[in-house]
This record gives sequence, C-alpha cells and structure tokens, in this order.
Amino acid sequence: MNLFEKDKQYIMNTYGRFPLNIVKGKGSFCYDEKGKKYIDLGTGIAVNTFGFCDKKWVKAVKKQVNLFQHTSNLYYQKPCVDLAENLCLKTGAKKVFFSNSGAEANECAIKIARKYAELKKGKEYYNILTLKNSFHGRTITTLSATGQEVFHKDFTPLTQGFIHTEANDIEMAKSLLESNKIAGVLVEVVQGEGGVMPLKKEFVQFLREYTKKNDILFMIDEVQTGNGRTGELYGYMNYGITPDLFSTAKGLAGGLPLGATVVFDKAENVLGAGMHGSTFGGNPVCASAALSILNRLTPQLFDQVKQKSQYVISRLEKCKGVKNVSGLGFMLGIETEKDAKSIALKCIERGVLVLTAKNKVRLLPPLNVSFKTLEKAIDILIDVIEE
Ligand SMILES: Cc1ncc(COP(=O)(O)O)c(C=O)c1O
Repeated sequence: MNLFEKDKQYIMNTYGRFPLNIVKGKGSFCYDEKGKKYIDLGTGIAVNTFGFCDKKWVKAVKKQVNLFQHTSNLYYQKPCVDLAENLCLKTGAKKVFFSNSGAEANECAIKIARKYAELKKGKEYYNILTLKNSFHGRTITTLSATGQEVFHKDFTPLTQGFIHTEANDIEMAKSLLESNKIAGVLVEVVQGEGGVMPLKKEFVQFLREYTKKNDILFMIDEVQTGNGRTGELYGYMNYGITPDLFSTAKGLAGGLPLGATVVFDKAENVLGAGMHGSTFGGNPVCASAALSILNRLTPQLFDQVKQKSQYVISRLEKCKGVKNVSGLGFMLGIETEKDAKSIALKCIERGVLVLTAKNKVRLLPPLNVSFKTLEKAIDILIDVIEE
C-alpha cells in the first residue's frame, strides 16, 4: 500500500485531502517525497504564521522541550504566564484561559457568557446570538454555534440556545436580540470557512453598541483572523471596537496546538476554581512557541502584510476569470469562474499550495512571505485561473 492508500485504510475518512505528501518545509516552501518544491500560500489553514520551521520559532520550541515538556495546570510555569501577560499587555485584556484548539477556545467563551449572564440577569439568559454562514468549531456546542445547516444535520440534537442572524443585517439582529434572552453575541469579523467574507463596519459597531447598552458579552472569534492574519494583531482592531472577549488559536503558536480565550474587564472574574480546565491547555512548549510568534507581530510587519495584500488584490482583480476578491490582509478569498477545487489541484501540479473556502480560492500566506516568492506564486495562480 502506498501512503495515500494506507491513510484511507487506517484514518477515518473525514477529510477531503489533496494528493500531496509533505515531507519537509522551510519558510514559505515545502517539499514532497520526490523532492518537488511548492510555494505554500495556505500555512496549514492559517497556522504556520511564519511558515515552516521558522528559525526563531524552532529555537524557542527546542529550548523549552529540553527544559520540560509538560507540568499539568496543578503547578506554575513561566512560559504560560509570560504568554498571558503578553496577550493582555498587547490588547488591554485582563485575563486568559488556555486550551488546545479553536473549538475549545470558543467553548470556554460560551461558558463565560452563560455564567456572566446568569450572575447578572438570571439563568434564563442563556442564548448566544451568532451569524448564519459562520464557523466556530466541530464540538457539539461549537457546531451549534456555527450557523450552517450543513454541519448540523448529522448530529442532532444539538446544544440548545443558539440563535443565528444574517451577517450585516442590523434590523434582523436587533429584532432577535430584543425578542430573546441573550447571554452573548459571538462573531468572526471575517467569516473564513464561510467564504472569506468581512463583516461591514456598521454592523460590527451596532453589535458593540447594543451589547454594551444591554450588558451582553460581545465575543469575537479570532481563531482564523487573529495573530496578525488580517494585517492587525486581532481582526477586531480593523473595526475600531474592543470586544468583551475574544477566542484565538490557529496561528497563535505558529504550528503547535494552543487555544486562548482572552477576556476584558467585564468577564475577568466570571470563571473560578474548578469551573473550567484543560490537561494540555497552556502547555509550556506551545506557550514558548506562541511567545516567539507574538513578539514578532509588530506594526511594521502588519504594514508589510497590508502592502502585499494590496498587491495580490490588485493583480487578481485584473485577472480574467476572477469575479471578485474579498478579505482582509493575508486572509483572501477569490471568486472565480472556474471551480475553486480544480484551480487548487492545478496549482499543486504547478508547485503552489492554495486553499478553498466554499466556492472560492482562499489564500492564507505566511505573514513574512517575501515579495519575490509571493509574486512568483501569484503569477502561477493567475496562469491557472486564466488558462
Ligand atoms: C473562525 C473559526 N473558529 C473556530 C475554528 C475551529 O478551530 P479548531 O479546528 O482549532 O478547533 C475554526 C477552524 O477553522 C475557525 O476558522
């Protein structure tokens, strides 16, 4: 059996994999078992923030792995504390809970919202308003939060208490907020899996104002948009608002599993001892990796991300066969006349890795991809779209 066949035999068939076996990588490049080189514009779905095996990231991981790999949350450890401090100082937040994934970071957010509302208003205020076409994870509760029927249908009954409103429809959101007992509102500012759709500023600002006025937690899912991806440290920073909480994961530790639920003043003391936990959450190796990433997410880097993003947008918008380009920073969706999956497959043949989201080609390049490499990859992508 070759690797593809063995994978099919022994791994549950939940993923539609591309026909590619990656054996090593460096920066924005990776290689298959035959030594063929690829430019990676997908970063393992917004995870490898500075590409493959980034020097400083590897150094931080190696250093920590040689000291100790795990302690459990029964003891203190510095990497985790330093990371929490760093996240708070950079955002103005007050406290952090660490987990291992985006879904878990959102689970924690939902628990905080429900507990906060119970303390402030009563147990019947348990509903969470999320958006149609959103994506918040694969656990039963984060699936319930996800506003896409396609993910629900095989797993009912779902967790109760999730209401979905249309993105950017202020009237609909207002009416649902007024007619239900709401604990929290949870949104992605750019719907990633939903097709790379940024929310409108007025809509985000309306949600911020309404939730503030009515003492409802406003929560932003920064799992995909976070950690520099949109050309700001967190996606909400593009919208001139501060939420009450945000969840993040993916790019936070640059390729190791780490989730964080980060709370501002209101929710700082909602969870107490024994109310939540995670064996691996805040693992010191992952925390050290995250610190090495976070320390390099600077305004200068964000300027470069924005410039390179503009370059990609302007080239693709001129491309025959492209209907539109959406997104922010290095989170871009390209609607094409051709089928997105067939473009991604063709790009692999030509040595470029791109992703898809719904019917779009999705680009999530390493934040430090060089201009030359990006130019080469976009040349190939345009060639494939136009041919
Ligand atoms: C916005 C958003 N939230 C949550 C998740 C779930 O994250 P994870 O797969 O790490 O559980 C994802 C994953 O794609 C995501 O894009």
